Amino acid sequence: MSEDASLHADVAEILLTEDEIQAKVRALGAQIGADYAGRPLTLVSVLKGSLPFMADLMRAIELPVRIDLMEVSSYGGSATESSGLVRILKDLSASIADEDVLIVEDIIDTGLTLNYLVRYLRGKAPASLRICTLLDKPARRLVEIPVDYTGFTIPDQFVVGYGLDYGELYRNLRYVGVLKPEVYSEVAGG
Ligand code: PRP
Repeated sequence: MSEDASLHADVAEILLTEDEIQAKVRALGAQIGADYAGRPLTLVSVLKGSLPFMADLMRAIELPVRIDLMEVSSYGGSATESSGLVRILKDLSASIADEDVLIVEDIIDTGLTLNYLVRYLRGKAPASLRICTLLDKPARRLVEIPVDYTGFTIPDQFVVGYGLDYGELYRNLRYVGVLKPEVYSEVAGG
């Protein structure tokens, strides 16, 4: 397949290849399928970053699965930093009361987004509530979050791809990579 160089030119380093990600997603799906065997599961994806992960993970889980989508954004903050104040842009479409719910996230950084979401979703009285994240960046954690399923623990580098953006771009990369430093100054405030 030919590749448009301009999509990849801003990437300094590939941290996780497409194959590594896909193998991990299959392993997570198998683990989740075994842990919830015999129970239908509701996956709640947190847009937009978790979109590719959700799409792949749900197909790796051999269980009856319902899905719902939320979109949140933090007030203030910057393109690379979260502020901790969370606003719900899109709420759940259906009740999760008495359901086994698994939150699907692309990355946990400070933990502030999930800290808010866990409290919010617990208020909806699910039978159980767990967290699955593709990426975990523990070096930046500000609040403790009990993570049940983690794909990869990564160093404190700003990463893009496989759903993760900088200035809303790079989400469609099939790998996770680190941007060249000069890209940040070019898209300042993006
Ligand atoms: C990202 C990511 C998490 C959150 C993690 O979302 O998807 O939801 O930040 O950061 P935290 O642990 O420091 O709170 P973002 O706000 O960038 O929105 P997006 O998913 O639409 O890109």
